[in-house]
Amino acid sequence: MADTHQGETRRDFLYIATAAVGAVGAASAVWPFVDQMNPAADVLALASIEFDTATVTEGMAVTVKWRGKPVFVRHRTPDEIEKARAVPLADLPDPAADATRALKPEQLIVVGVCTHLGCVPLGQKPSDPRGDYGGWFCPCHGSHYDTAGRIRKGPAPKNLVVPDYQYVSDTVVRIG
Ligand code: FES
Repeated sequence: MADTHQGETRRDFLYIATAAVGAVGAASAVWPFVDQMNPAADVLALASIEFDTATVTEGMAVTVKWRGKPVFVRHRTPDEIEKARAVPLADLPDPAADATRALKPEQLIVVGVCTHLGCVPLGQKPSDPRGDYGGWFCPCHGSHYDTAGRIRKGPAPKNLVVPDYQYVSDTVVRIG
């Protein structure tokens, strides 16, 4: 009797431990950083990646790796989109209308490499500074990007690059 009881207890423990590990794994895969592509050599050689934007809910930002570079995926709020659209093109150092920067207005996808000297700007994590224009801030030399990833202030000469991408389903995007 005693042995049977211990055996059941052990099985219960294993079951619970496995479930807990699974839950932690799922949580860390979603927020705040999705290492969608492991930067192994075979992956870096891939020309394109697919990413399901359904995991990125409004107000959330996720970083994926593509060809060894960080790519910022941000689900913009209506307010962020409105702010980006209200800016006169004449005020932009590298003029580009917001509508040309995102296939779906709510999903902004840009290469997360500062166009000054190549640092990775801050602004992906909720605790990060986002600069004077609510997008990203590059602390290396003080470049500020807006909610469309356009350079607004600082030494960077160009907007964050929008990679080639397309939606292969309602939510899955293929980058590259
Ligand atoms: S590398 Fe970003 S401001 Fe210099």
